[in-house]
Amino acid sequence: MRKIIIVSVFLIIFSVNLFANKVLAILPFESVFKEIAEEQKDAILLAVEDYDNRLEVVFKDSKGSEEGAILALDDYIREYGKPEAVISCASWIATALNPVTAEQGLFHLAIGSASIDRKYPNHTIRMTVDEKTEEELLSYYLLQYNKIAVFYMNNELGENWLNALNKKLGSKIKLSLSYNPEKRDFNNSVKQIKAIDPDVVVLISSSNAAEISKLIKQAGINVQLVGTRPIERPEMLEMAEFTEGLIYTFPSFDTGNQMLEKFESKYQYMPTFFGMEAYDATVSLILGLEENSPNDLFNWYKGKTFIGALGSVTVDRNGDANYPYMFKEIKNGKFVMADFQYALILEQTKQEIMAVFNKMDSDLKIAAKELSTGITGEKADIIIKKLHNFNKFSFDVVTLDTTGTIRNVFPKDYSDILGENVSEREYVKRIIETQKPVISKAFETLEGFVSFDFQYPIFDSNDKYIGSVSILTKPDFFADMIEDKIASFPVELCIMQTDGIIVYDINKEEIGLNLFTSDIYNDFLSLRQLGRKMSIYPQG
Ligand code: COI
Repeated sequence: MRKIIIVSVFLIIFSVNLFANKVLAILPFESVFKEIAEEQKDAILLAVEDYDNRLEVVFKDSKGSEEGAILALDDYIREYGKPEAVISCASWIATALNPVTAEQGLFHLAIGSASIDRKYPNHTIRMTVDEKTEEELLSYYLLQYNKIAVFYMNNELGENWLNALNKKLGSKIKLSLSYNPEKRDFNNSVKQIKAIDPDVVVLISSSNAAEISKLIKQAGINVQLVGTRPIERPEMLEMAEFTEGLIYTFPSFDTGNQMLEKFESKYQYMPTFFGMEAYDATVSLILGLEENSPNDLFNWYKGKTFIGALGSVTVDRNGDANYPYMFKEIKNGKFVMADFQYALILEQTKQEIMAVFNKMDSDLKIAAKELSTGITGEKADIIIKKLHNFNKFSFDVVTLDTTGTIRNVFPKDYSDILGENVSEREYVKRIIETQKPVISKAFETLEGFVSFDFQYPIFDSNDKYIGSVSILTKPDFFADMIEDKIASFPVELCIMQTDGIIVYDINKEEIGLNLFTSDIYNDFLSLRQLGRKMSIYPQG
């Protein structure tokens, strides 16, 4: 009997080991990034505890270098055989491990790696949003400055950031200086920064940023400091007297999520982005390994959306995670959402909508001149086709005669509207009466969507009014303009005409309703008050 019990206990232990998933996490422990590595390790262990204790994670030290990472992998294989998956931190390390893991058939998951170069494209999954996405946001903010200094780490992350900023901001960058993050000798560079008297200093920096900020401020350089995702480190708040006012781009996750609470109660400190990302990476890996062999993991991740500590994370077809980004700042010694960003998004959206409208307006003016020889016929067909094709947001282009009857249309698929008299429409009446260009208010089209119509009068060679040409905006015009822009922010954007008509809202059913008169808003008085203010004041 005793023998049987011993055998069965052995079998249980054996079967546990047989099914364990071996994972190697190569993190930069002995380096300037050691606190990041420790936080990632804590988060990985928390995820294993929360979701699966069959994941056997071994942690090895990359020492923050490519060679160190490759040695760590060799070491692991010598000791334990091949792992099912390799997790690595830092862009330059992911770039180095991509070919090595691909050639050995090991699944590779990169964290803390915003800027990687994949020699093997369909291999590495990355949980960090690409630096190019973050850069779009940051550059838009930086455009307001004319004398920019960039102080960056001399690694792949820093160098790629500098290249991207150079492309976008060109001659506005008056000085770019690199530093070795392990050396921590910044005095000479700070002197050079002071010499150009910049308006803003961009720090592509992480654990060193607090010390650099201190030296900059102590040197009497009173400038706006700007940073990127890895800058949100606890040291920045410990030295808040020097870092106060820093503006930086950062993922906009839900700060009330449960992982943060669990992490804090287990480890007695709050995780930063690095811990949250490591946690999500590990949880997703646990789920992936439950259903797949390591060879199938890349395809399993591709196109998936997870809801994790970082919020909704979608992995694109390159294997890169995407999630919202926003601006944050250090205010009163705390990391908080930056208020200015809402005005920035609104201004950017306004400018882009105006650019589309201005293009429609100037193209219509040209087309109206060209149509002076006639609003129908072969030549007219070519003109309206060109007008439609050159305006991305055109739903259709039509010509109307002097009675407001539709005489020509492109695309031809909509030919059933030919002969339709639309002279009852307020803006058609206006153009017939004034023979001047008009823009409609939002109206419900024959096709059943809310749209705008831009019209230009057409005169023949004797200056006689012979009709008009119009562009009708596409139903998804505003959605196309807006949704991408706010995808990075935890906000919704709505567009209201000054008469209260909602021309765009994330809830499609609200488009076309009137904020001032539609019953569904009766219980939302403060929203109505806000709408009234919006209809009176152009800004604020
Ligand atoms: C990155 O490479 O994107 C990182 O965040 C690395 C980190 C160790 C600063």
